[in-house]
Amino acid sequence: MILHSLSTWSALAAHYKLIRNSHMRDWFDPISDLAPTRADRFTVTGGGLTLDFSKNRVTDQTISLLIQLAQETHVQARRDAMFIGEIVNPTERRAALHTALRASDASAPYAAQIKAERIKMAILAERVRNRQWLGYTGQPIEHIVNIGIGGSDLGPKMVTHALRHFAKSRIRIHYVSNIDGVDLQGVLEQINPEKTLVIIVSKTFTTSETMTNACSLRDWFRRSGCTSDQLVSHFVAVSANLQEVVRFGISPDNIFEMWDWVGGRYSLWSAVGLSVMIAIGPKNFDQLLKGAHLIDEHFRYAPLEHNMPVLLGMLGVWYRNFFGSQSYVVAPYSQALYFLPAYLQQLEMESNGKSVTLDGHIVDYPTAAVVWGEPGTNSQHAFFQMLHQGPTIVPIDFIISLTPEHSLPGHHEKLLANCFAQSEALMLGRTEAEAKNIVGCKQASLVPHIVFPGNRPTNTILLDELNPQSLGALIALYEHKTFVQAAVWNINPFDQWGVELGKILGKVVESELISTSSVDLRNHDSSTRALITRARESATLKSGIVC
Ligand code: F6P
Repeated sequence: MILHSLSTWSALAAHYKLIRNSHMRDWFDPISDLAPTRADRFTVTGGGLTLDFSKNRVTDQTISLLIQLAQETHVQARRDAMFIGEIVNPTERRAALHTALRASDASAPYAAQIKAERIKMAILAERVRNRQWLGYTGQPIEHIVNIGIGGSDLGPKMVTHALRHFAKSRIRIHYVSNIDGVDLQGVLEQINPEKTLVIIVSKTFTTSETMTNACSLRDWFRRSGCTSDQLVSHFVAVSANLQEVVRFGISPDNIFEMWDWVGGRYSLWSAVGLSVMIAIGPKNFDQLLKGAHLIDEHFRYAPLEHNMPVLLGMLGVWYRNFFGSQSYVVAPYSQALYFLPAYLQQLEMESNGKSVTLDGHIVDYPTAAVVWGEPGTNSQHAFFQMLHQGPTIVPIDFIISLTPEHSLPGHHEKLLANCFAQSEALMLGRTEAEAKNIVGCKQASLVPHIVFPGNRPTNTILLDELNPQSLGALIALYEHKTFVQAAVWNINPFDQWGVELGKILGKVVESELISTSSVDLRNHDSSTRALITRARESATLKSGIVC
C-alpha cells in the first residue's frame, strides 16, 4: 500500500487546499450553524467519555474523507487482527493482546492465565493493604517502591497519581525510574526498610536503569540488617524473564508474569499495575479494566464515523500529514492527570515514531507527532501564548472532568471556565476590528499585538468524573488512537528498535568511564572522545559496579 497513491489521499490533499483558508468562526456563525449544530454533529460518546471535536478545521466532507482513508488503509481489518491475537508485531513475531487483559469474556485469548495472575495480584494487594504482609522485623508494609522505567513506570505512576483520591489505605507508593541516583536517594530518605516492599518491574529484567536501582536497593536493605533470606519479604518482581528474576534472588512465589504478547507501554493492565492495585484496591483496579474494556468494545463495534479512537486518530493524521503540524499538545485540566502527557509521549512516540513501513520501506510522509503538554491552568501561564499567537498551528486535546476530586468550593468552576474559554478563544481569535474597538484610535500601534488569528484546532474530552473506570477508558482511547494512526501510516506500533543503539553504546561508554586502566577512545568521534576524557579526569566520578 502506497499511501500517496490512494485516491482518498489525493482527495484529502485537494480538499485541504479548498478549506485551509476557511475560518472555524464562520462555521460556528449562529446564523448558519443551525440544528443539528456543528457541536451536535461533531460530538461523540463512548465508554462514558464525550469527545467534542467540533472546534477542528474540518467540515462534514473532511470527516467523511478521513473515514474513507481509514477504510482504505484497512484500519478495521488490522484492528480485528489485533483483537483476535494475530501477529501484529511482525518484527518481534508477537501478538499485541493488551485488550485481552481487560476482556470480561472467559473465551478471550489467554483468559485463564490472565485470571490466575490477577487473583495472585489481588491476594498480595489485600495482604499488604490489610497490614498482613510483614517485613523482616515483623512490621506491616507502609511503603511500596516500584522500580521500573518506560512502560514499567509511566503507566502505573500516572494512574496511581490520578487516582490518589481512591487510595484509602495509608500505604505510600513511590516510583523510581531514573538511573540518576537522585531519584532513588530521594525515596530512600522517606522510607524505612522494615516497612518497605519493592516491586521490580521489568519485562526483560536486563534494563540497566532498573537493575542498577534494584541492586542499590538490595544493598540498602542488606546494610540495614536485612539478611539475604529475609529479603524475600521485601522484593517481588513482574517480568517475562523468570530465570533472571530468580538469579536476582526473588522467591518464585513473589514473581508475577509478563507475557510477550503484551508490550511494555501497553502493560499497565497486567501485573505491571500491581502498585496501582495496592494503592486503590482490587475492586477499583477491576473498574479501571472495565473502563478500558468499554472503549475496546466501542473501538471494535462503533461505526467509524462515531468511533472515538478512529476520529481522534484520523484528526491527528489530518493535521500531521496535510497541515504539516509537527506536534500536538495534551492539556489535562486536572492536576491529578499531571503525568498523563509523559505517559502519552511514550505511548505515541515510542509506538509511532517510525520511518519504515511494516514491509520495510522508508516512508515518504510524516508519522508520529511530538506529544507535549502540562496540566491547565498552569500551562496557560507558560506556553499558551505561543498556541494563541505563534505562527505555528499546534492542535490541542483538552481533557477535563465535570466533577472535582476535592471539596474546596469555587475552584472547579474556575477550572472548567478556563478550559472551555481557552478552546473558545483558540477557535474564535480576535479580529483587527475587535482589537481596534478595544484600544481605540489613541493606541493604534497596539492593534497588531492584540489580534489573535484564532482558527486553532482543539478537541475537548469530557469525563463525568475522574474515577478508575473513566481513567481506564481514557487510556484505552489513546491506545487505540495510536493504533489507528499506525494502521494509516502502515507502521508497526508495537516494536521499539530505535532505543537499542543508545543502550549498546551506553554500555561501551560506561565501561570506558569506569575503567581504571587507560582506554583506547579512537573508536569515538572527537566530541564523544573529549567528553569521556573530561569525565574520566573528573574527581567526582566514582567507579563502582552495583550490579
Ligand atoms: O526504552 C525501551 C523500553 O524497552 C520500553 O519499551 C520499555 O517500556 C522500557 O524500555 C522498559 O523495559 P523493561 O520493562 O524490559 O525494563
